[in-house]
Amino acid sequence: MTVRHFLTLNDLSDSELATIIERAVEMKALRKQHIENAPFPNHVLGMIFEKSSTRTRVSFEAGMAQLGGSSIFLSPRDTQLGRGEPIEDSARVISRMVDIIMIRTFEHEKIERFAQYSSVPVINALTDDYHPCQLLADIQTYVEHRGSPQGKTVTWVGDGNNMCHSYINAAAKCDFHLNIACPEGFDPDQALVSKNSDRVTIYRDPKEAVKGSDWVVTDVWASMGQEEEQKEREAKFAGYEVNHELMKLANKDAIFMHCLPAHRGEEVSGELLEDESISVVWDEAENRLHAQKALMEFLLNHRK
Ligand code: CP
Ligand code: NVA
Repeated sequence: MTVRHFLTLNDLSDSELATIIERAVEMKALRKQHIENAPFPNHVLGMIFEKSSTRTRVSFEAGMAQLGGSSIFLSPRDTQLGRGEPIEDSARVISRMVDIIMIRTFEHEKIERFAQYSSVPVINALTDDYHPCQLLADIQTYVEHRGSPQGKTVTWVGDGNNMCHSYINAAAKCDFHLNIACPEGFDPDQALVSKNSDRVTIYRDPKEAVKGSDWVVTDVWASMGQEEEQKEREAKFAGYEVNHELMKLANKDAIFMHCLPAHRGEEVSGELLEDESISVVWDEAENRLHAQKALMEFLLNHRK
């Protein structure tokens, strides 16, 4: 059996990505009309979480139930994964029992190794390097509010982290330009930037970066696993808050996104986050559900 995995956005062709987004919009409409869409009865999603989650856990678990299947939540605390059973063994065993697996972990290399040994599709539900599921939801949200992101200018403000890396991939997949405003020492991966140098521009000044932007996005300054750097990062990222003043420099109809959870008064002002004429963060969070249902449908239908 050949299986498709979703470890980064690059695992999809441009047209497959567009199809999944279209299907996510359709699935959202079906749900709003209370039309049942449960093509996967008896299917089981294995969910491995080595980091905390609200949105990812709820959206995958609810999504799989809505598709007719069920899910198993697995944490290292109460599985042999936490006691050192090799990834390769865990992957072979778990994938013989479930139909699809999502993993949230630290090193990206770990999920690659798991996928290599898994006989069923593996979905990246966040690693230290990428968060591609969030990008499915973000792209869907932009499409719903403003239409195609092709040819638009998107500005990332903040840490060059896992979300930022996935935005770089999205820029290439969806054909938009990405400005990145980050303090020195917090740049995204140099190799990834170089590979996409035709569509990524690094700035130090967020005010310069957001000029002419259609879509502004940020994320926490200290990601999961970096909690002890919080104070130091707060000092280094001072001046990188996205607020109404900054948004005024973007295009008139620019929208604001944040994958959440948000730290009000740090990377985003409370006023901007709550201003639904600019901030689409609640739709963005909801779209995790619809986009991942479309993704799971795609991966389950592509098993051969
Ligand atoms: N945006 C996101 O992935 O949220 P959680 O950490 O709550 O899953
Ligand atoms: N960059 C954040 C995203 C959380 C959804 C983290 O990795 O913690």
